[in-house]
Amino acid sequence: MNIGIACDHGAFEYKEILKDMLQKEGHMVTDFGTYDTNSCDYPDFAAACAKSVAQKKNDFGIVICGTGIGVSISANKVHGIRCALCSEPLSAKLTREHNNANMLAMGQRIIGEEMMKEIVHVFLNTPFSKDERHQRRIDKLMALENE
Ligand code: RB5
Repeated sequence: MNIGIACDHGAFEYKEILKDMLQKEGHMVTDFGTYDTNSCDYPDFAAACAKSVAQKKNDFGIVICGTGIGVSISANKVHGIRCALCSEPLSAKLTREHNNANMLAMGQRIIGEEMMKEIVHVFLNTPFSKDERHQRRIDKLMALENE
């Protein structure tokens, strides 16, 4: 898969671990930064990653900050993005099945490294259910972008 990743200074460590894991698993990873632990602004990096997903340059985007909240809010401001903040694998599974989420957000201060890896694996390996009721709800939530 083509996967975009991004973080702020509060999650640089996890972003590097994630990049290494995904590349070893054969994914094509585009790293939108940040590239060190110097203080920075999470919307800059989350938005760049989200735009690449919205433009179909990446299949999925994964964004990480201290809590995961800032990057998830930022990503969801980009039209076409459904970014889910997950702290455990069940939410990652259900957001793919029900919301067809195209981005995943996590918090380095919130979850452990192994939990991050498990959440990412579940997210990337769970297909959208394609159930009519879920598609109807997704259509309604995406229509909110036009209001
Ligand atoms: C950075 O200090 C911190 O605010 C950020 O990583 C994130 O937790 C924001 O939601």
